[in-house]
Amino acid sequence: MIRLLFIGDVYGKPGRRVLTAHLPGVRDQFDFVIANAENAAGGFGLNTESAKALFKAGVDCITLGNHTWGNREVFAWLDDERVLRPINYPLGTAGKGFSTFEVKGERLTVVNAMGRVFMEALDDPFAVMNTLLEREDLGSIFLDFHAEATSEKAAMGYFLDGRVAAVVGTHTHIATADARILPKGTGYQTDAGMTGPLESVIGADPEGPIGRFLLRTPHRYVVAESRAQLNGVVLEVENNRTLRIARYEYTEPH
Ligand SMILES: [Fe+2]
Ligand SMILES: [Fe+2]
Repeated sequence: MIRLLFIGDVYGKPGRRVLTAHLPGVRDQFDFVIANAENAAGGFGLNTESAKALFKAGVDCITLGNHTWGNREVFAWLDDERVLRPINYPLGTAGKGFSTFEVKGERLTVVNAMGRVFMEALDDPFAVMNTLLEREDLGSIFLDFHAEATSEKAAMGYFLDGRVAAVVGTHTHIATADARILPKGTGYQTDAGMTGPLESVIGADPEGPIGRFLLRTPHRYVVAESRAQLNGVVLEVENNRTLRIARYEYTEPH
């Protein structure tokens, strides 16, 4: 049995701060830690300083998303087996979408895929998962499904039910309260939520987003400065199924 912690979108300095302060103290409760870090570098992408800080704090694998290309330093990390970008980018794209790890003598494969509703349309993530699952050497499979629409994420959960250990969503930065085990044994939560500033509009200082909604013109988005919250999901995984799944949350004190 593998005890997994999955940490939702790490956003800017506040996200890195809460993760690096909190994770080392609880790290021994988990066998493997995955973090979505597509917003780690100032809200956009992954840079070297962020990747190093996350790994040092105890993260074993970093997943990304539509902001994969937000910081050019990511190219130094895309060949690292611990760093994944969505698997359904077209053939020939730098990096890879899955990696297999040995954890306590068991095989664990982490996959990152991206949805197509209300976001840039990549290759069909359902078909790409079907192709990946033809492989027999993956062990227990954890999918970070980076998507906007709750319907697309729920559909992916049921599509993969009984074929992967877990499907957990990212990208909306808002945690959902639907953690459960689907009928055929796949752990599921629509969105893990964000690891970043609590007083924000999905990570940004509210002024920018409010301005954009009011005036319909571009506004500068600045990483909000407030106490941060770490949002994630804890799973117990065995034989490509989930035995237990629950939300995980830690908020910095005032
Ligand atoms: Fe994000
Ligand atoms: Fe995203």
